[in-house]
Amino acid sequence: MRILSGIQPSGRLHIGNYLGMMEPAIRLQNEGEAFYFIADYHALTSTHDPAVLRENVRGLAIDFLACGLDPEKATFWRQSDVPEVTELTWILSCVTPMGLLERCVSFKDKIAQGVSPSHGLFAYPVLQAADILIFDSDIVPVGKDQKQHLEVTRDIAQKFNDRYGDELLRIPEPQIREETATVPGLDGRKMSKSYDNSIEIFEETEKKLRKKVMKIVTDSTPVEDAKDPEGSYLIQLYELFASKAEVEEMKASYRAGGTGYGHYKQQLFEKIWGAFEPMREKREALIADPDYVEDVLQNGAKRAQEKAREVLDRVRKATGLGR
Ligand code: TYM
Repeated sequence: MRILSGIQPSGRLHIGNYLGMMEPAIRLQNEGEAFYFIADYHALTSTHDPAVLRENVRGLAIDFLACGLDPEKATFWRQSDVPEVTELTWILSCVTPMGLLERCVSFKDKIAQGVSPSHGLFAYPVLQAADILIFDSDIVPVGKDQKQHLEVTRDIAQKFNDRYGDELLRIPEPQIREETATVPGLDGRKMSKSYDNSIEIFEETEKKLRKKVMKIVTDSTPVEDAKDPEGSYLIQLYELFASKAEVEEMKASYRAGGTGYGHYKQQLFEKIWGAFEPMREKREALIADPDYVEDVLQNGAKRAQEKAREVLDRVRKATGLGR
């Protein structure tokens, strides 16, 4: 079984990235052939400063390793070190109907946010399809926001197979974990850098993390009154880090009244800070050893490139390209 996923280097990791994709991906590295990459080609659609892009890639590599990606078990590389994927993107573009891309919600969202769209942004899902299909991936662990891109990938693979031959491209399955499909942000919308509502897992200091957690939106029920645990984002986040008993205790305390939201936020802060404690230590060691991190990416790229070549050769032959 081949497991594959990617993540954009778009700044510091937040809890949504971690619980939606990284944590499941790290767990799956023990269950099959794992392939994980840093999607720097994709980041070019929004990051236009070369120094920032390079720094974000470096930081993400460190963070993924600190969180437990084991390069002995998983192949880990920088997307642009395997440029074969851009060739497959072009080939897939020629079987992709415009309408399929026009329906993509993430593209429509960006336009609604006032972004002036490039062709790259429009074609983004085709590159993502190539990422997945070039490795004959079976399973793709992602958050719910990627569901449509996985459907597009499956559609494109099917169209390719219909035109050039059955089973040329393997049809992948998304794996979306229900409890963490959409991790809420400070304001209850999906946690996302572009909504400015995220809680970073490696916030520089305890103080900064506490300040972030204190920004979680709550209603204005006075301290002494009973509070409604249903629909509380604070509790939804607490559920991701606390035991069932601890969550029940917090809910009971909400209903009883007499405790302010600040107290609950402090409890959540302690859980989050504690959860990433071991990773922070590992991260410091990795920051001090940039050569090791680069070696991991280079070795990963070599392995990934071998696999990508196999599929690309099969595709080139089937489509009549080359000799
Ligand atoms: P990206 O970089 O936006 O996000 C990385 C992963 O984090 C998940 N995620 C979330 N999960 C739950 N709750 C949230 N609030 C939340 N925010 C982010 C995302 O679902 C994703 O799994 N296009 C992809 C990167 C990509 C890719 C691929 C993924 C490129 N090629 C091939 C899989 C396969 C993206 O921008 O993810």
